[in-house]
Amino acid sequence: MDNKLPKHLGLIMDGNGRWGQRQQRSRLFGHQVGLQHILTVLPICFRLGIPIVSGYLWSLENWRRPSAEVAHMRHLLRTLGPPLMRMLHAQHVRIVHSGNRAGLTPKELAIIDEAVTLTQYNGPHTFNIVFNYSGREELVHAARRIATERIDPAEISEQLVNAMLSTPMPDLDLVIRTSGECRLSNFLLWQSANAVLYVTDTSWPDFGQRDLEAALRYYQEALCMPAHVRAVAEGQEPYCV
Ligand code: IPE
Ligand code: IPE
Ligand code: MG
Repeated sequence: MDNKLPKHLGLIMDGNGRWGQRQQRSRLFGHQVGLQHILTVLPICFRLGIPIVSGYLWSLENWRRPSAEVAHMRHLLRTLGPPLMRMLHAQHVRIVHSGNRAGLTPKELAIIDEAVTLTQYNGPHTFNIVFNYSGREELVHAARRIATERIDPAEISEQLVNAMLSTPMPDLDLVIRTSGECRLSNFLLWQSANAVLYVTDTSWPDFGQRDLEAALRYYQEALCMPAHVRAVAEGQEPYCV
C-alpha cells in the first residue's frame, strides 16, 4: 500500500453471532472466536502501517441482549481478557479504553485498568478497547464534566470537548464495519465526524488481510475526492467558485 494510510482506524467488529450459527455452532461460540480474532487482525493493521486501532467490543446497548449472551460476554472478558492483553503487551501494543466505568464489576474494571497500566509506556502502536461504550453517552458525560467544572462557556471549544471524552483520541480516518450493516451503532460519534466509512459483507471472524487491503484501497480512493469536499473534511475553509 502507498503512504496514504489511516492514522486511526475504527473497527466495528460485527457478525460474530451469525458467524457462529453458520458454523452450526452457537452465537456464543462466535463471540469467543471473534474476540480471539483481534489477535490476528491487529498485527496486520500495525504491519501495514496503521498506528492506532479502535475496536468496538461491546456497546451499552448490547447489555440488553439475552441474559445468557450477556453472561457469556462477561465470562469471556474474565477468561480471555487477561491472556489477550498479555499477548498484546508482548507485542509492545499500548492499550487504552473508551467506555463507561459504571456498570462494570470491580473484577472487569481491574482487568481493563491492569492492561492500561501495564502497557502505558508501550509504542508505537495503540489498541483502544471500545467496551461498555455509547457515543452519545460519552458526549453526555463530557457535557456533565464541563458543567461540574464550571468552565466558562467562552472557553468551550472542540479541543476542550475532545479532552473531556473518556479517552481523548485523534480523529478516526477510516471506520470499517464487518458483516454488511451500514450503520454506526453509536460507535465513537465525535471521533468519526470526518471518517470514511467502509462496510464489508465479510463477518468479523473471517476478516483478514485481503478485506483490510480492500478497505484501504476504498479509503485511498475516497481521499481523491474533489478538493473542496476534502477541504471540509480536513477542517479547512472550502474554496468557492
Ligand atoms: C458483534 O457481533 C460483536 C458484539 C456485539 C459482541 P454480534 O453479536 O452483533 O453478531 P451478529 O451481528 O448478531 O451476527
Ligand atoms: C455493534 O454491533 C456493536 C459491536 C460490534 C460491539 P451490534 O450488532 O450491537 O449493532 P446493531 O445492534 O446491529 O446496531
Ligand atoms: Mg451485530
